[in-house]
Order: sequence, then C-alpha cells, then structure tokens
Amino acid sequence: TESLLSNDNDDEAIDPVNTQEQPSTPTMSSFFWLTVMVVCLPMFLFGFNTGVLNAPEPYIFVGHSVMEWSFAVSAFCAGGFVGANVSGKAADAYGRRLCLIAILFSNLVFGILHSIAPSMLWLIIARFGVGVAGGASTVLTPMMLSEISPTKIRGSVGTLTQLACVLGILVSILWALPFCSDDEWRYIFLPIAVIAAFGLLASPFCLPESPRWLLLNQYETRGEEARNTMQLFRKESAHEMEEIEMEVLELLGENYNVADTNSEIPMFRHMASNSIPPLSIDEEQEAEQVVDILPDHSFKAYAKDPRNRVAILSSVLFPVAQQLSGINAVFYYSTSFFEGVISNPQNGTIIAFSVNVVATLVALALMDRLGRKTLLSCSAGGMFVCCVVLTFSLLGMLPGYITVVAVMLFISFFEMGLGCIPFFLSSELIAPEHVGTVQSISMSSNWFSNFCVGLLFPLMDQTLGPYSFVPFACALLVTVLYSLFVLPETRGKTYQEVRQEMDVRWQQNASFSPVPQETGQLALGQQQSVEPE
Ligand code: GLC
Repeated sequence: TESLLSNDNDDEAIDPVNTQEQPSTPTMSSFFWLTVMVVCLPMFLFGFNTGVLNAPEPYIFVGHSVMEWSFAVSAFCAGGFVGANVSGKAADAYGRRLCLIAILFSNLVFGILHSIAPSMLWLIIARFGVGVAGGASTVLTPMMLSEISPTKIRGSVGTLTQLACVLGILVSILWALPFCSDDEWRYIFLPIAVIAAFGLLASPFCLPESPRWLLLNQYETRGEEARNTMQLFRKESAHEMEEIEMEVLELLGENYNVADTNSEIPMFRHMASNSIPPLSIDEEQEAEQVVDILPDHSFKAYAKDPRNRVAILSSVLFPVAQQLSGINAVFYYSTSFFEGVISNPQNGTIIAFSVNVVATLVALALMDRLGRKTLLSCSAGGMFVCCVVLTFSLLGMLPGYITVVAVMLFISFFEMGLGCIPFFLSSELIAPEHVGTVQSISMSSNWFSNFCVGLLFPLMDQTLGPYSFVPFACALLVTVLYSLFVLPETRGKTYQEVRQEMDVRWQQNASFSPVPQETGQLALGQQQSVEPE
C-alpha cells in the first residue's frame, strides 16, 4: 500500500494551490498503517455483511416465507440508515475511537447471533444489528481516515474505505462457497465475530483517538496526547515538531478568533485566553468590533450561511448519486447479463466482484494524482456510456460478450470515482466541527437511496422493461454536469484553502448581494481573503 500511496507526481498544473510550494509526500510510520487497518475493519465487515446473504439464501430460506426473507434482507438496510443517522452526533460527543470500538463490539455480538440464531426472527434481529454497525462504519471510517491523513495522501487513504468494503464483499462470496449446504451454512457467518474480535484485541495498541477530534474537543486535557499521536504517525523526525505545530494551527482555521474567549470550541477558547500576547489599544478596539459580530458556531448557523450551500449540497448529492448510479441494480442483475456468455452464473458474480476490487486498487493509485472533479466526472461519464450500451443490449441489439464487457466497465468506472469519493467528500468540504453532523446526513441519504433502489428496481424492471437503466443514465448525466461545473476541487488542499476558494466563487456569483454580516466567521486579519475582485 505504501508504494501506491507515496507518489510525487505533481504534473497537474491546473489548480493554483498546487503550483505553490509543495511539501514533500509525508512518510508515515507502521503505527499509522496499523491504525489505518484497524479503522478499516468496520468497513470490511460492512462489505462482508453486504455480500454474505447471497450464497446461503436457498439453505436458510428452507421453510420460511418470502416475506420473512425480505425482512431479513431489508433489516440490514434499515439498520444502516439508523446507524448512519446516530453515529455522527455520537462521534462528535464521545470521540471517534469509542464509536469505532462500539461498531466492532456490535459486529462481535450480532455476528455470533447470526451463527446461533434459533429462528428467523433472531436472524432478522442480527441483520438489523450488523446493519446499524454498517451504517455507523460508513460515517466513522472515512471521517477518521480523513482526519488522521496528511493532506497530500488524504484521497488515497480515504479510498481505503471503499477498498475495505469491496474486499469484504468478495471475501464473503468466496468464503461462503464451501459452506453452502443445509447443515453448514452457519459457518458462513463465522468471520464476522472473528474479525470483530481481532479488531477489539488490536484496539488498545493501535487505535488512538483522532488527534483532530482531541484538539477540537479536549484541548486543555488531551492536547499533548494529540501531538504525541501525530508524532507517532510520522516516520522521520526532521522538522517533526514544526510540522505538527503547523498542522495544529491549520486546524484553528477561520474559526479561530483572537477575541473569542467564549468560543464553543474548547481549543479556540483555550488559545484565546492563554497564548495571545496582550493587545495594543488599536488591536483591542478592532477586537471589540469583532466581538460585536461574534460568530455563531451552531450547525444551524453554518447551514444557513449561503456560502456553505455548495459544500453541504455536494456532501449529500454525491452519496445519493452513488446509489442512483444503479451500481447495486447492476450487481443484482449481473447473473442475467452473463447468461449464455459465462456458463456458471456464480463464476460471473465472482469475476464481477474481483473486477470491483481491482478497479478500486486502480482508483487508489489515481486518487491523489488526478483531481476529485476529474475522477468523478470520468466515473459518472463512463458509467453513463455503459448504461446506454446495456440498454441497447437489453433491447437485443448487441452480442452477449459486449454486454459482459459493458457490465465490467460499468463496475470499473464506478470504483474509479463514485464508489469511493462520496464517502470522504464531506470531510474535505465541511468545517471540521460540523463534519460529524454532515457525514451523518450524507450517509443516511446514501442508505435511504440504497434502500429505495433495492425496493423500486424490480418495479422499474417490470414497467420499463429494456429501458430500466434509463433512469440511472439520467442521474449519471446530472452527476457529470454537477462534478464539472459546481463541485469545488479539494485534492491536495486543506479545508481552509477549499473554503477560501468557495468564498471567492460565492462572492463572484452573488456580487449583487453582500456577505451577510451576522454570519461572517472571519478572524482578525482574514477579511481581505474574500474581497471581491
Ligand atoms: C459502495 C456502495 C455500496 C455498493 C458498493 C459496491 O460501497 O455504498 O452500496 O454495494 O459500493 O462496491
């Protein structure tokens, strides 16, 4: 992984931020990579739990109604929605570490319940339980990965969220193969508890609290712990402290107001009251003026500020687009596409999910070389073309092998952008103190759309017949246009840099309406950064 992640290709001269002085790619310690592995385990389990019911269906199904089976399948999605909903707030209140441990613990308990479930009702409860854990994983893993990664490799590390998930799906299918029988199907669920137990055992040694969360929430008591963790994450020692202090300052961002000794964020309060030299009379007057427009740090105020609209909209739209792209419909449908081309449909499924893993590895290598806008528009654009081809093939106008190629390309294009970027986009676009809330909203939307596609696709298939992929194609076209023309580029940029770009753009677009004073969140000396041109 390290070699894939350590790239120094800075050929792209498109965005101004990256043409400035470039810090070298940071070398991370093995402790960092172990932490990344533990943080990814919940997503691996989420993938495993997603794929695990495919194979044993005929055996668990014996003696049960279609209704019961549908409940078992949808309980996972319903749990996911609940988990995504509650986990952002919990992660902000209790920390990332505790929530990740809770996710592993739920997987352990409900994983065991899968294997010992005495009745269908218990299996449904177990599915709901791992669903809640899965929903929480989609919030926690990408958020934590984004928070602990240096800007330069943030995209690649964030992509590990989806890599863990697709590996989980593939492993679940391969693992299930030998146990597909009436009396052995319970072994299929065994890895859930085993992997969760492994994660729990590793957590005291390589799952530190996110330094960013510590700095923002418990600066007075655990500020040193945060700095220590940041140091442990780095391999070399040169300029270490200096770099770490730079990162700490980066976190202060625009919300750091020298006069704000009442800030809701403990770190800013602490810095405002402790480390600021006495102000001159002029400065005091200036500070008083700032106190008059003291920023409101609530999420409500943040969401109301029109300058944050694009950031919030993008954080929700892409996770929805991920599902409206029809990826899961193609997976469900894949068997029928392979008919007559691949003799055993099971092999077709294995090939499709292997392509899924390989494409995610390619995405990992590309993520910090190409911009997010490029990858998302190419991803959605490529999927759009494949959708059109699939429609022609459903109309019986194309030979079978072209259909199979189109399915594989559809999956590959998905993983190149829409599969991974939506998970960590909000960590890049949203102010650090609101990431938890927004990540929860965006992932709940993701689960809800996943559920809707699952529910409506059979109906679409019935009513639209060969045109059943057309709605997905429309959604993909909108995604291409939005990625190209609205989404701000975030690759290689700190939140402050992204924010500044969005502010400037907002000013240009809304040159008729001035920045509302009551929502101005700028610190002293920063006003000039959003001056209209
Ligand atoms: C993403 C989606 C999930 C899908 C998977 C396929 O993780 O959220 O719904 O099944 O990609 O790789």
